[in-house]
Amino acid sequence: MGCQFDQRIDRRNTQCVKWDATAEVFGREDLLPLWVADMDFTAPEPVIEAIKARADHGVFGYEIKPQSLNEAVLNWLQTRHNWAIDPSWLSYSPGVVGGLATAILALTEPGDRIAIQPPVYPPFFSLGDQNDRIVVENRLIESDGRYTMNLVELEDIFRSGVKVLILCSPHNPVGRVWSREELLALGALVVKYDVTVLSDEIWADLVFSNHQHIPLASLSLEIAERVITFMAPSKTFNLAGFYLSNVIIPNETLREKFANQVQRLGNAHSNVFAPVAAEAAYRHGGVWLDELLAYLEENVAYVQGELAKIAPKIRVVRPEGTFVLWLDCTDLGLPPEELNQFFVQQAGLGLNDGASFGTSGAGYQRMNIGCPRSLLEEAMKRLAQALEEYKK
Ligand SMILES: Cc1ncc(COP(=O)(O)O)c(C=O)c1O
Repeated sequence: MGCQFDQRIDRRNTQCVKWDATAEVFGREDLLPLWVADMDFTAPEPVIEAIKARADHGVFGYEIKPQSLNEAVLNWLQTRHNWAIDPSWLSYSPGVVGGLATAILALTEPGDRIAIQPPVYPPFFSLGDQNDRIVVENRLIESDGRYTMNLVELEDIFRSGVKVLILCSPHNPVGRVWSREELLALGALVVKYDVTVLSDEIWADLVFSNHQHIPLASLSLEIAERVITFMAPSKTFNLAGFYLSNVIIPNETLREKFANQVQRLGNAHSNVFAPVAAEAAYRHGGVWLDELLAYLEENVAYVQGELAKIAPKIRVVRPEGTFVLWLDCTDLGLPPEELNQFFVQQAGLGLNDGASFGTSGAGYQRMNIGCPRSLLEEAMKRLAQALEEYKK
């Protein structure tokens, strides 16, 4: 018997970037889009009902974030992440990327150095570059298909002077859920060199069995003093189009700087539906999320199993969370620039080119598995056929 996530929903003509921008992005409309990181599932039913009720009201004036939303967020952090925060630490930002940009503008000057850990979510590069900051790469180390942080190099980088580290935790695209030991070691460096961490924890809720997300700022007060944490209901409950994220800043000075920058930019607000959706999701979405995680884990196992059969040269970097798979295609023997063309033109699949996550991502592809299994089955068939053709 199928489950709710097996249902195929036609997303075309809904102004969604994943399906409606394929012609523009990939040059063809008929490919299967497994790229931009949202899911092809409907949101939890209580969210849909709350949005409908709000729409029915018919008056769409300026919004506030009600106290009941703050309580829902605080409760979520406590129950899901074992993190009790002071209510004064919490504020909101439309999107996480916008929040990161706001923090960069608030805490650094043009010419300042910002560390990131590639391969990583592409805006981490552009947020630095486009704001005239110097992006310093502290590349992750891959060994036997598992990525770890290069903390020895990071210490050198800190010693030579960076103001900010943008951390991706859990990590997109490599799927690592950083362990307590890793985060403690990172935290020790952050304290020693007094670096501020912009901790992008947007994937915090999407963590598989036997792993636990640990908010960096929950480790100790002296670490928390140096961390701005970004979380959101967007990835968790598939609400990215509403644009609302949570910003948690324990340090009063950092909090003031961030709030002042928000005022300078005039971007304090989201939209009237976002708080409604977020509150319903945090209050009533827990069971849906648990079912989703079980489904995503099965999707991972399915793709891994199929690739082992049809494309043993493509190695899946085993994810500990997220709904993206990082595929090592270096053994296919295609030059990186032809690899993307192979997936798009030969296989009819729209994945994210690994090179867009930094030069250390060349030869990789990122596949979004947040979709019904039948779509992945179709994708695997297309890939098998394309590989057959390629071998001839
Ligand atoms: C690490 C990371 N941060 C931020 C975002 C996007 O956040 P937002 O849409 O809230 O700006 C994504 C989306 O894929 C992401 O992977």
